[in-house]
Amino acid sequence: MHLRSKLPAVGTTIFTVMSKLAADVGAINLSQGFPDFDCDPALVDAVARHMREGRNQYAPMQGVPALRQAVAATLEALYGAAYDPDGEITITSGGTEAIFDAVAALVHSGDEAIVFEPCYDSYVPAIEVNGGRAVVVSLRYPDYRVPWDEVRAAISPRTRMIVLNSPHNPTATILSESDMTELTRIVDDSGVTILSDEVYEHIIFDGARHESMARYPALRAHSFIVGSFGKTYHVTGWKVGYVAAPAALSAEFRKVHQFVTFSTNTPVQHALAEFLADGRGYPGLSAFYQRKRDLFLALIEGSRWKPLLSRGTYFQLLDYSAITDETDMDFALRLTREHGVASIPTSAFLYTQTAPPVLRFCFAKKDETLESAATRLRDL
Ligand SMILES: Cc1ncc(COP(=O)(O)O)c(C=O)c1O
Repeated sequence: MHLRSKLPAVGTTIFTVMSKLAADVGAINLSQGFPDFDCDPALVDAVARHMREGRNQYAPMQGVPALRQAVAATLEALYGAAYDPDGEITITSGGTEAIFDAVAALVHSGDEAIVFEPCYDSYVPAIEVNGGRAVVVSLRYPDYRVPWDEVRAAISPRTRMIVLNSPHNPTATILSESDMTELTRIVDDSGVTILSDEVYEHIIFDGARHESMARYPALRAHSFIVGSFGKTYHVTGWKVGYVAAPAALSAEFRKVHQFVTFSTNTPVQHALAEFLADGRGYPGLSAFYQRKRDLFLALIEGSRWKPLLSRGTYFQLLDYSAITDETDMDFALRLTREHGVASIPTSAFLYTQTAPPVLRFCFAKKDETLESAATRLRDL
């Protein structure tokens, strides 16, 4: 049978490849972004309690009301943004579903969406499978700043959307207040919609402030904001996230969401609602991960790995140019097979650039995992 693929360039994701290789060769897995420690046991108890109490059938399509209310209250408390939980917050099956639905809701065949490379690997396939064209603007090693002149030049009458991500995976950079000023100018001039991937909003370091689109009324009015409880509560396997967007955008979003998943896991939503409404989980998260970042950096200090500044997320880029001139993919594979540490090559997030000599390491790991990995990394 001859199949005409809608995504001919897409293979198995790098996360699956590296996690499988790590398991096959028994390497320490600092590749895929997930914690190797457990979540708060009280959260598991809460899910079990909701299951036992019979909350096991379909949730409302837009999400359990208590969770939508807790998300709206959190956005108000943190960013001073008033979202209506009934019409402007939708609970999704992870940030990934939220990203896909937002793109599918807005991008028509032949439309363009601007993405910044390196970028999370679901953006471009979501755009392309919906008939759109990804227009790639490069963030360049080593500081990966947004080149706003290039963004302005990339805008065309076909531009429907700009996809932003802060704190940023994989570079661990964050948007600044001056970035928000530049973005506001572009939105004012073009009326373009923003898809703002803020799944790491609660993991930001050295006292920096998270520049959510929600803080800025002019941006908020044009934005889908994507959040994920997986990152915040150490439960990436539960796949629950949300989208906050003005009513008109939310209405279009929900038209897609109701036919992609219809609704999201019911008992988990109830449990998350309790935790979020109580303000649990996120307040200490930045400090928790900053300590892990600093531990990891202290453990590899004096080695030939050169760290780039990690300002948020639970990722650390390490420059390996003093160790080898291999490509990042070749080196990541060899590092896993021969030295027992799995990482992610940033080439997996690139579309037009040649990959710089850096690998991405996830430090959402137990201290002893980081210690064992660092011992191996120091040997190189
Ligand atoms: C930047 C970014 N966006 C979205 C997601 C997906 O979030 P979820 O696991 O909630 O689908 C991830 C997960 O790694 C991510 O790193």
